[in-house]
Amino acid sequence: MMKLTRRCFRPPQGLAVDGDTPKEVLIFKQVGKVATSKALIDASPDKGRHDQDPSNRNCHPHRSDENNEFTVVHNGIITNFKEIRMVLEKKGFVFESDTDTECVAKLAKYLYDQGKGKLSFTALVKAVIKELEGAFALIFKSTKFPNELVATRRGSPLLIGVKTDKKLKVDFVDVEFGADSEKISEEADAYLASDKTHPKMRRTQSRAFLSDDGQPQPIEYYLASDASAIIEHTKRVLYLEDDDIAHISEGELHIHPAAARRRRLLAALAQVMKGQFKHYMQKEIFEQPESVVNTMRGRVNFNTHSITLGGLKAYLSTIRRCRRIVFVACGTSYHSALATRAIFEELTEIPVSVELASDFLDRRCPIFRDDVCVFVSQSGETADTILALRYCLERGALCLGVTNTVGSTISRETHCGVHINAGPEIGVASTKAYTSQYIALAMMAIQLGEDRVSMTARRAEIIDGLHELPRHIKEILATDAELRQLAQDVLFGQKSLLIMGRGYQNATCLEGALKIKEVSYMHSEGILAGELKHGPLALIDETMPVILIMTKDSLYPKVQSAYEQVTARMGRPIIIANTGDENVAKNPCHKIWVPQTVDCLQGLLTIIPLQLISYHLAVLGGVDVDCPRNLAKSVTVE
Ligand code: G6P
Repeated sequence: MMKLTRRCFRPPQGLAVDGDTPKEVLIFKQVGKVATSKALIDASPDKGRHDQDPSNRNCHPHRSDENNEFTVVHNGIITNFKEIRMVLEKKGFVFESDTDTECVAKLAKYLYDQGKGKLSFTALVKAVIKELEGAFALIFKSTKFPNELVATRRGSPLLIGVKTDKKLKVDFVDVEFGADSEKISEEADAYLASDKTHPKMRRTQSRAFLSDDGQPQPIEYYLASDASAIIEHTKRVLYLEDDDIAHISEGELHIHPAAARRRRLLAALAQVMKGQFKHYMQKEIFEQPESVVNTMRGRVNFNTHSITLGGLKAYLSTIRRCRRIVFVACGTSYHSALATRAIFEELTEIPVSVELASDFLDRRCPIFRDDVCVFVSQSGETADTILALRYCLERGALCLGVTNTVGSTISRETHCGVHINAGPEIGVASTKAYTSQYIALAMMAIQLGEDRVSMTARRAEIIDGLHELPRHIKEILATDAELRQLAQDVLFGQKSLLIMGRGYQNATCLEGALKIKEVSYMHSEGILAGELKHGPLALIDETMPVILIMTKDSLYPKVQSAYEQVTARMGRPIIIANTGDENVAKNPCHKIWVPQTVDCLQGLLTIIPLQLISYHLAVLGGVDVDCPRNLAKSVTVE
């Protein structure tokens, strides 16, 4: 029986591993996480070849036949799978699952047999993907090609992490370079430094990763959709381009054609260790005093009150002349765009709309050549956001990316953009990426508006506010124990929670409510206080938990009126207020204090106690904080 240290590939919910003989592949499936499948193997060392429990039938990997000749894992969607399945069923194939993936495994076997076993593994996969429509990242194993693995993608992300103890000198070696490792190294480094595609890298089959003496190295490879899944193992990552075929054979990696790029993830490995923290989410919340600095580093001059975002430089005048700015994003990234919409409107006077990517696509929103479309995405791999980007590219709009992932699909396919440099975010619930996106967008608005002399003082005020931010965030983090107590005493065990505010705090309410539902599973809703009378007020009584954000900005009197409406209905809101607000201080209700900052940056501070409260509610509820049920860090399918 094999050990798990053997070459194996580990898709969600199942494992395919090499068996005792080189021509054997074993499949284990179990609904749940990969760890569950591993436990299954560990617990039953001589269990059968293929667990066919009905609840597991749709789990990956899928296979071509009962001998597991071809096994496949897949991320994405094959849109023409029904047609392929129909054809294969007519040829006698019997399907075991309802998935689109299974038709890929069976198609591989069919084409292999058709070719009378003469096709190489890569030629076979090329032939398979020729027949496929849709979006996919696929990994193939086969008993016909022992010790080999082939991976490919189109539309869905796929990357290969490379790990070796030995120091490697080379990268992306075109066969024409031969084994002259010095020269190869120079070429590879120049390629990486220039950040461009090396002309030779694209031409022919590429052989990668030789040792100093030009010999192939034994190396571990990790294939994943998202770098966060593998970053604990290696920082060396290759991103495959559409239709690239990666072939791993006898420890060597070949890319056909040689279009992949290696990116050194900027993060140091230390950044992805949990350290003193219990969970990544907690670590990432506490990292914010540093991550916000990293977003601003080298871009903000606090003395001259100016901002330079290198990635936008060449496009500034085009953006300033556009007819509108359209932000497109999902989840937390959408909230960061909402949070900064008013800053853009105020500083640039350009009309702004903020769109959820799925809805934007559903409506087939009209987009024109003189629009500027900004795609905000932590991962840079969210399927809906990518599809919306391609939609806007087709219509000739200038497309900007705001991502946290260098080399991601969105950073590669946009015309220009800004990396938020928050460092890898591992917790499924986004925290530090939100504050960094918020800052990156605020910086973008300031830079775009710098030609407006009348706003000079306002821009300087905001930049001064940015300067104070790390100190202010630290002050809030220092109140963590009180927030934990509040979560435990007042909120834990409640069915529902309403978070209210208005103006700049509208986005905080939505984002805070999203955090709470994502990780604590408690129903929570962000409510625009201006809409109270139009429905939400009906929910208020003495039992409904409410958090009200009442910070000192021009809307303070209106939020006070919301407070009165809520208390008149026996509601007892917890108030998030600015430190030193005497009006709130004398109120007997529960309070959460945050330092006062510039109105348009206040949302960067009010979100932090809500992140902490959601974290504590999750821990109190025994939730797997970093991997809440049913959610994924990168949603790479529509
Ligand atoms: C998923 C994640 C969220 C994230 C959203 C958008 O739902 O769980 O945390 O906000 O995707 O992801 P993106 O990578 O595009 O920011």
